[in-house]
Amino acid sequence: MKVGIDMGTTGAGTPAALDLEELLATRLLVQGNSGSGKSHLLRRLIEQSANWVQQAILDPEGDFVTLADRYGHVVVEAADQSEGALQRIAARVRQHRVSVVLNLEGLDAEGQMRHAAAFLGGLFDADRDHWYPMLVVVDEAQLFAPAAAGEVSDEARKVSLGAMTNLMCRGRKRGLAGIIATQRLAKLAKNVAAEASNFLMGRTFLDIDMARAADLLGMERRQAEMFRDLERGHFVALGPALSRRPLPIRIGEVETAGRTGSPRLMPLPDTPPEDAHGLIFAPGEAEPPPFQPPPRRPPPPPPPSTAELLAQLAAARPAAATPEVEAESEERAAERDAALDAILREVLADPEAAYRSVAVLYQDFLVRCRIRAVGGRPPDLPAFRRRLAAARAGVEADAAAAPEWDRALAVAADLPEDLHGLYLLLARAALEGAPCPSDAEVARVCGSRSPGRARRLLGYLEQRDVIVLRTERGGGRIIALPGLGRETAPGDPAAPDRDEPGDDDLFAVA
Ligand SMILES: Nc1ncnc2c1ncn2[C@@H]1O[C@H](COP(=O)(O)OP(=O)(O)O)[C@@H](O)[C@H]1O
Ligand SMILES: [Mg+2]
Repeated sequence: MKVGIDMGTTGAGTPAALDLEELLATRLLVQGNSGSGKSHLLRRLIEQSANWVQQAILDPEGDFVTLADRYGHVVVEAADQSEGALQRIAARVRQHRVSVVLNLEGLDAEGQMRHAAAFLGGLFDADRDHWYPMLVVVDEAQLFAPAAAGEVSDEARKVSLGAMTNLMCRGRKRGLAGIIATQRLAKLAKNVAAEASNFLMGRTFLDIDMARAADLLGMERRQAEMFRDLERGHFVALGPALSRRPLPIRIGEVETAGRTGSPRLMPLPDTPPEDAHGLIFAPGEAEPPPFQPPPRRPPPPPPPSTAELLAQLAAARPAAATPEVEAESEERAAERDAALDAILREVLADPEAAYRSVAVLYQDFLVRCRIRAVGGRPPDLPAFRRRLAAARAGVEADAAAAPEWDRALAVAADLPEDLHGLYLLLARAALEGAPCPSDAEVARVCGSRSPGRARRLLGYLEQRDVIVLRTERGGGRIIALPGLGRETAPGDPAAPDRDEPGDDDLFAVA
């Protein structure tokens, strides 16, 4: 079913439709200077789609709480909740498919970042069974994904930027469609902006924002000059959910009112000046206590050192002695390790295993460990994930023994956990001088069947300078890994998966 959201009218006077399904897949960036009508635009979009799709709105100014009465959004007052509580609320929001407004008003800049990050993290980490499609609307997104360090702590910036990057770069598989608005494109982190394929560009004064807009839209700078003279409420639309060519549109009316509009002139009350003195110096009845920002949390413990991470990752290395069992005899440790490997191999032998969530595989793994009466404590979930990443990458014993392999594990340790397996797959190919894995193989190690997703994840790694992609004249893809100083042989991106799950060599060690 195709659902067109009515955004207003085009320059030609026809209805301006936004394709909801396409939007869910391709995300949206709205930019325009303050007063250009971004919040109004978001409200129009939210109102028009409220009956079709679940929504969460991150609202730094308390502008959208008025949606509650008419559209039934539940307002979550961020300042009243701890970060942990917000994360749990977000998980329940996904479970019960409730539309919400996260009101971040009343928190300082750092508090807004931390609370937004906790909430987004909860949406992102929701149980796989609850990955229903959902619009995640973030107004003034540059507050949460700033391009440059500001006055807030590096740590707050890191968690907030990380959450926004996850939303825009990796949210799709989880059903999250990011819709972000910013007044200054140059102030928004590049990687966050770059993931949107749909744009609504409003009035833009500054050359630097204009230049960024032109780059994002693949326009000549000269062409982007058209954004300079746009009136309030007028935007230029471009992208698969909107229009194939830049299309001027005028945003239509909204049903609910914003709380922060333009200031309007209002007649002054006729209070005689004598009373005025008394009114402002004498305390009134039932005055609220002065606002006090919530106490800052103590800084978290420092992240583990590279050496510690290496040690942890090495623990996942097949057939290597694991530090946690040093107390046991080497022989027993090796036996246990081999038993765990065998069980993991059984778990992965199911052809569907590649597409199951880690949590489900872990459950299966634990049950089998009990059945086989493997002694000692089973690996915890993080250790299991590392083992799984190495297994899915299909690390051969030779490759695993190479000194560069330690380096590969260290690089992988710096990446988000769900990309460990992908990086190790690429590292393995590079270290063995094997052809570059195809999109199908890349998708499988990431637990997906979608070649498009494979390419996006490779793009994500490339943006972070973890890999460099290039294409040979014959069409073969080569991936270089600067961290290892090695590259793969050319491989056909469209080749079928050579290593279908279930193959015995999936975990060929021991
Ligand atoms: N398309 C529109 N039609 C009518 N009024 C609009 C429209 N767009 C914006 N406005 C009004 O202009 C003012 C500023 O818009 P707003 O959306 O708050 O701008 P921004 O979020 O870009 O700073 C608000 O009072 C809003 O109601
Ligand atoms: Mg606004």
